[in-house]
Amino acid sequence: MNRSIHWLLLYFLVIQAATAQTRTGVLAEPVYNYDEAKVGDLTLPDLLRTTAGKQVTSRADWAARRAELLQLFAENVYGKTPAQPVRLQFQTTSIQQNALNGLAIRKQVSIVFTDYPKLPPIEVLIYVPKNAAKPAPVFMGLNFCGNHCVSPEADIPLSTRWVDNAIGEVSVNNRATEKSRGMQERRWPIDTILKRGYALVTAYYGDIEPDHKTGWRSGIRSVLGDTARYNGPQDSQWGAIGAWAWGMSRIMDYIQTDPALDARRVVLMGHSRIGKAAVWAGVQDERIAAVISNESGEGGAALSRRWYGETVERVNTSFPHWFTGRYKTFNQRVADLPVDQHELLALVAPRPLYVASADGDQWSDPKGEFMGALYAEPAYKLYGKTGLGVTTFPGLNQSVGQTVRYHNRTGKHDVTNYDWAQYLRFADELVR
Ligand code: GCU
Repeated sequence: MNRSIHWLLLYFLVIQAATAQTRTGVLAEPVYNYDEAKVGDLTLPDLLRTTAGKQVTSRADWAARRAELLQLFAENVYGKTPAQPVRLQFQTTSIQQNALNGLAIRKQVSIVFTDYPKLPPIEVLIYVPKNAAKPAPVFMGLNFCGNHCVSPEADIPLSTRWVDNAIGEVSVNNRATEKSRGMQERRWPIDTILKRGYALVTAYYGDIEPDHKTGWRSGIRSVLGDTARYNGPQDSQWGAIGAWAWGMSRIMDYIQTDPALDARRVVLMGHSRIGKAAVWAGVQDERIAAVISNESGEGGAALSRRWYGETVERVNTSFPHWFTGRYKTFNQRVADLPVDQHELLALVAPRPLYVASADGDQWSDPKGEFMGALYAEPAYKLYGKTGLGVTTFPGLNQSVGQTVRYHNRTGKHDVTNYDWAQYLRFADELVR
């Protein structure tokens, strides 16, 4: 065969093979799975057996196992949260006595990092119900696009921090525009929360670290932790999720100083990636009274070993900055992970936990989230509590459980009024 024809043929064969592989997802993003038949058998690590093989039978044993699990999650999944104390200043930048037509007192507080003047502060937005018992129990949660986009009030300053352009016209050159005002108001029914007697405390997650691959350079990880080894293949440095969780604890630090807020009754709510961070914050920071995971999915409430929806490999590939370097070494061998997510949820025990899914959000794996909540049960039992207390996956829009609750609502990946109705009831019954 003529030499050039030979090369041409070879070239076409290679291109063909490559595109075929891309079609099957081998060369492109790692695959995900929506076929229950392909999930296979599930063998989970035993929550109540230590690495050394000791069976946990008492609360004292559990205290040691709990410490071990915290360390395993830090080393393998989220990275180690720097333990060093950071000096903070809480600067109240505005108080509005008659916010939301007189329903609330609104405060804006900057959490300033005294030792790191180059780091911008965390801007906290606080609504305290006027006609309610003081101090008020609190719903706390980070938001996705700036305080101005969750409040209906037009005088909340636009966030000046990095925002994702993918959100649409609402941002230009990674900065929020006026068009983003109120954009996610629907996800935060502030009036309803206030009328039920709760305060709301929120801040933009990007104030702690902008959510992109090099966002760490302008966030808290630029000054805390060993960033020089960032994302190395074996490192246990904290990722963005660890940083956001750390930020939630700094907001807790503030809440403890505000006499209008009841720091012993703080319910931490997080959606999606912020839900992953909320669970990680809740397990590390026992000042947090209860945790709500709204569709946190992979790396949140969903079991990692259950090969359904998003996978460990997929989340690590799409968002390499979220988790620790070592987590990526489990991409192709999830069964070797020394932990699974039911063990993370168990670390919330004995505190109340709510895990919520949406039927239209199969990416987060509703069944895997339910199973995560279900298999946390033995930890609650050690405290004489019933966790979920049911073993069958509930029908749509049915809130089940006791100290641990679960629902799978109709609709897409979102936070809806249905979700909030369940969270408010959960808080009324278990936190007040
Ligand atoms: C992506 C990601 C999820 C994440 C979600 C979100 O879909 O794959 O893991 O939970 O974004 O944060 O909205």
